[in-house]
Amino acid sequence: MPTRTLLFSLLVWLLLFLAATPRRSLTLAAGRGSWELLQKSIGISAMHMQLLYNDRVVIFDRTDFGKSELALPQGKCRTDPSDTVLTVDCTAHSAEYDVSTNSFRPLMVQTDVWCSSGVVAPDGRLIQTGGFNDGERSVRMFTPCNGCDWEENRSGLLARRWYATNHILPDGRSIVIGGRREFNYEFYPKSPSTNKLFSLPFLWETNDPGIENNLYPFVHLNVDGNLFIFSNNRAILLDYNRNKVVKTFPQIPGGDPRCYPSTGSSVLLPLKHTQRPYIEAEVLVCGGALKGSYAQAKRGNFVKALNTCGRIKITDPKPAWFMETMPLPRVMGDMTILPNGHILIINGAASGTGGWEMGRDPVYSPVLYKPDYPSGSRFEVQNPTKIPRMYHSTAILLRDGRVLVGGNNPHVFYNFTGVLYPTDLSLEAFSPGYLDPGLLNVRPRIIYPLSQVKLKYGQRLRVRISVPGAFDSSRVSITMVAPSFTTHSFSMNQRLLVLDAARVTPVSGPVYDVETLMPKSGLLSPSGYYLLFVVHQEVPSKGIWIQIM
Ligand SMILES: *[C@@H]1O[C@H](CO)[C@@H](O)[C@H](O)[C@H]1NC(C)=O
Ligand SMILES: *[C@@H]1O[C@H](CO)[C@@H](O)[C@H](O)[C@H]1NC(C)=O
Repeated sequence: MPTRTLLFSLLVWLLLFLAATPRRSLTLAAGRGSWELLQKSIGISAMHMQLLYNDRVVIFDRTDFGKSELALPQGKCRTDPSDTVLTVDCTAHSAEYDVSTNSFRPLMVQTDVWCSSGVVAPDGRLIQTGGFNDGERSVRMFTPCNGCDWEENRSGLLARRWYATNHILPDGRSIVIGGRREFNYEFYPKSPSTNKLFSLPFLWETNDPGIENNLYPFVHLNVDGNLFIFSNNRAILLDYNRNKVVKTFPQIPGGDPRCYPSTGSSVLLPLKHTQRPYIEAEVLVCGGALKGSYAQAKRGNFVKALNTCGRIKITDPKPAWFMETMPLPRVMGDMTILPNGHILIINGAASGTGGWEMGRDPVYSPVLYKPDYPSGSRFEVQNPTKIPRMYHSTAILLRDGRVLVGGNNPHVFYNFTGVLYPTDLSLEAFSPGYLDPGLLNVRPRIIYPLSQVKLKYGQRLRVRISVPGAFDSSRVSITMVAPSFTTHSFSMNQRLLVLDAARVTPVSGPVYDVETLMPKSGLLSPSGYYLLFVVHQEVPSKGIWIQIM
C-alpha cells in the first residue's frame, strides 16, 4: 500500500473512532467540585433537614440534649418535665436557614424530635412526625412564611414512631412506616376507614434481634403507585391501600445489612420520559456495614464499611440486583440526586456502623455516580471537605444546584472537646463541578416561567432559556426534583423526573424555547412543590419552583 493511502486510511479510522466515542467524552472538562463553609455555627446540629419552597431550610436536632448554642427569642423557654436532661430549656433545637441571605433564626419545638421523619404536603407545609419520649406520637407542622413556627399535635399518631420512614402519596396523604419495634404503618391524615394501624410483617422478618437493621427503611414510590420498601438486606413492593405485598425482591447479593444501624443509603434513580413514558424504575442502594459490624464496633473493633452498590430494576417481571464497586467504602453516607440526574454520595465513614461513637475513618471525599454511563465508568471521586460528617450528618440539594451539608453530633450535651468526633454546628455547601466558572458559557438560564408557577398534570409547558455560548439542542433536558426530608443518611421523598424536551426552537440570539410535557399523574409526581431545571450538556440552570396540582 502506498504511504499516502495508508495515511489516508489511518485518518479515516481515527475520524470513525472519534465519531464512535460516546458523547460524554466530549463534555467540557468539569472540575471535581468545591467546598465552602457557610456558617461556623448555626447553634444546633443539622440532624434533620428539609428545603421548603421559600428557599429556607428547616433544621432540627433533638430537645433532650441539654443547652444548644442558639437562644430562643425574647426569653422564651420550653418547660418539659419529661425531658431527661433539662426541664427548663431556653435554647432552640430547631432553626430556619435562609439560603439567599445565608442567615438563620431559632424555631421552637415543644417535644422531642430526635430521629423523626417527615414529608412536605401538596400545599408546601412540612408535616413531620414522631421522635422520642414525649414526641413519639406527635405530628408537627411548619408553614413556610415570615416568622412562622412549629405547630404541634401530641396525639397525631396511633403508634410511637422513632426511626420511621415517611413518604408523600399521590393523593396527598403521608404514610408513616415502621420505627423502633413498630412492625406496621399508618397514614396522616386519617379517614374513618384508615384510622388504624396496618401490620407489616416484613419489618418484623427483617428485624435482626438485638441489632434491628430494619430502621429508617428505604421507601420509594414506584411508577405503578406501589411502595418499594427496602429493609435490612431485602425489599418488597407494597400495595399500601390493600395492605398487600405484591412483589418480593431477591436479597441483595452478599446479604449484608444496609439499613440503620448498618446505615447505607438509597435513591430511586431518575425516572425518564422515553417513547413509552415512565414505565421503568430503578433503585440504587449504596454502602452500609458488613454483617456483624455492629457487634464488633461495640467491642471497639471497627470493621471496614461496604464498598458496594446494588442496582435493581424494580419494574422488571424478574428483577435482579446488579452489583457495582464504589471507589471508597462508606457507611452513613447520604445520596443526593443532582439536577442533572447524577447521584452524589457524600458524608459518612469508612469503618464501623451508624450510632453513637460507632463510626471511624471519616470519608471526606464525595463520590459521583452517573447512572447512564457505561458500567465501569460511573463513579468519580470528588474534592474532599475538611470536616468529618459522621453520625447524624445530612446533605440536601438547594435550588442553585449546590448541596447543603451539616451535622455531626454523636454526643449528648453538645460536647465539643475531649471526644473523637466533636459535635459540629456548622453548615457547608458542596458545589458540584457543573458550577465551575469555566462552564458559564454552557449553563442555561431560565427566563420564564418565573419561579412559583402553578402547573397541571399533563400540561404543556414552554420554558424560555438563554445559553451564552455554543448551544447543542440535542443535549437539552428538563428535570424536576422533589426536595427531600433528610436524616440518618436517607432522603425521604427524593425523586427526579427527566421530562420530555423534544422540541427546542431558537428565538433570537442566545435565547431558545424548550417545550415540555408535565407528568400525567400524581403516581409519577405526587402533587406539591418541585424544583424545575433545564440541563444543557449535563450542566443545570438554577432551578425554579413549580407547584404541580
Ligand atoms: C390531633 O390529632 C388527632 C389524630 O389525628 C385528632 O383526632 C385531634 O383532633 C388532633 N388534635 C388537634 C388539636 O388538632
Ligand atoms: C460531655 O461533656 C461533659 C462535660 O464536659 C462530660 O461530663 C461528659 O462525660 C461528656 N459526655 C460524653 C458523652 O462525652
